[in-house]
This record gives sequence, C-alpha cells and structure tokens, in this order.
Amino acid sequence: IQSLIIDCDPGVDDAVALFLAFAAPELELLAVTTVGGNVPGAKTQRNARIIRQIAGREDVPVFGGAERPLKRPPAGAGAFHGVEGLGDLEPFEPTGIVGDGPAANAIVDLVMSRPEGSVAIAVLGPMTNLALAMRRERRLAERLGPVVVMGGARSEGGNVTASAEFNIWADPDAAAVVFGSGCQVVAFGLDATHQVRATEARIVAIESIDSEAARAAASTLRFSQRVEREIVGWPTFDWGAPLHDPCPIAWLIKPDLFETKPCRIEVETGSDLTRGHTAVEFRIDPATARHRWAVAADAQGVFDLIVAKLKAQTLE
Ligand code: BDR
Ligand code: CA
Repeated sequence: IQSLIIDCDPGVDDAVALFLAFAAPELELLAVTTVGGNVPGAKTQRNARIIRQIAGREDVPVFGGAERPLKRPPAGAGAFHGVEGLGDLEPFEPTGIVGDGPAANAIVDLVMSRPEGSVAIAVLGPMTNLALAMRRERRLAERLGPVVVMGGARSEGGNVTASAEFNIWADPDAAAVVFGSGCQVVAFGLDATHQVRATEARIVAIESIDSEAARAAASTLRFSQRVEREIVGWPTFDWGAPLHDPCPIAWLIKPDLFETKPCRIEVETGSDLTRGHTAVEFRIDPATARHRWAVAADAQGVFDLIVAKLKAQTLE
C-alpha cells in the first residue's frame, strides 16, 4: 500500500483522479491539498470537499493551499472546467471541514513525520504548494517518496501556448523548484495524457456503474467531451477529451499501464515566448537520472482500471 498526498485544483479531470484514488485500496490517502489553478483556491478547496463527500471518504483530510503562483498573477482555465470548476456538476456546500493550516505545512508535517521515502505526492495542478513546502523544509525533497506530476509537454507542444502545458505555465517558478530539488519526479505530460482519451464508449462504461461517484465522474467527462469538441475541435467526432490528471494516479496503482523513460527535466521561467516549457533531456546517464517522462500510455487499460475500481467500491 502506497501512502499518498494528492495536491490538486479540481477541475474536472482532477475530480476523476480523486474518484479513482478514493476507490483504490492500493493507496493510503493521507490528505488532499488544494491550490488555485483551474479556478480560484476557494473553489478548488470546496470542490475537493464536494468530491470527498460524494465518494464517502470524509476520513481523508482536505487542506487549502496557495491562492496564487509564486511570482505570476493567478491564471485560470474556467473554459475547460466551468466557472465553478466541476463542469455540469452543481456545486453544494459540503459538510466536511477543512484541515488546519495551509497545504504546504500539512505536506511538510505528513512527510517529515513518516519514514524516509514512504510518502508519495501526486501534483495535479500548479506546483505552488509543493514548492512552498520545499522552501519551508529543506530536507523535504530527500524525505519524499515518488513525486508524480501531471505537467509538461514535449513532442506535440503545449495546450496554453505553443511551448507550455497549463500546470507548468501557470506557475513555472514553482515547477522549477520541484524539478530542481533533487526529488524523484515521474512526469505525465501531454505526450502521455493526450493518448488517454474519453471516447463515447469509455464514458458510457463509467456512466453505467451504479454509484454516485461514477455518475459524478461521468458527468465531468461528458462536460469535457462537449467543451473540448467545441473549443479545440476534433479530427473525428468521437476523438475524445484527454484525461490528464488520472494518469499519475493510475500509474501509482498499476505502473505497467505506462512507459516512462529516465531523463532530466528543466523548466523555462524567463522567456515570455516559451515560459513554462519543459526541456526534457533523454541524453543523460540513466544511472544519474532523477526524473522520468511518460512517453506512452495504455489508454484502454487506464479506463478499465477506473471502471474496475469504481465498480468494486459499489460492492464494499
Ligand atoms: C492540466 O491543466 C488543468 O486544466 C487540468 O486539470 C490538468 O491538470 C492539463 O494541462
Ligand atoms: Ca489539474
């Protein structure tokens, strides 16, 4: 069982990632921490508590975190997530409380109070909280287990600019801190997540599971199907919206769903043109590599995993 903190900005695909993690007995969820990203921090924190409540997992604490990136003004992605951040899901005031103290403190406390290398963190939004935690506690990077992130773009370019993917672009300075910290990062950028597409048949498979969590997850997938089709434009009618944030969670549960390669990842923080670009260098000695970059994904396998976990949760 892998102990895990999920740092996120729900966010429709963050929501699916959370539903998957909440349903996976392979993961011991120590906390969910939230950051301003897709929508402002007050909403991502509320949304994480809404998802927790729908999943029936109020045993997992939620901590609110950074409202804004380290140096940049906050940027949103409301067009892809809806103004409230959960697509067509009607937000409500959740009953479960917010944990004490900012997310960065919670991350430090949880990691430093447990054995070295035992706690993984999945960062599914801008990396502000983890960067702040690393600044607060210099030994954090060496204490952390795997750091799995959704972020970055290499082969086909970015989704905000020609060079940059949203999570890195939104807070490149935080991403540079994390990639430069010496911790072991496994990065799931657009090269991998664009292979994992929610086609009609895959959405229907989740929709047909009889649980509130599955219905909520499917609703966010339907929303993405609609807006991505409109905004991005698809080569075929059933191309499918990419399912980004569940990828690192799926990897923690079943690593053989992805092919990853050792590399060094650096982030552009200065240039106006290429801000947030991830320079992924494979030409290094694998023995010294601190990072891995996901190059391929078994898309059907990822969806089968989500279906299997959500189904199993209904039998508990
Ligand atoms: C990433 O950006 C956000 O909009 C998504 O939630 C995902 O984490 C994809 O670029
Ligand atoms: Ca996200």
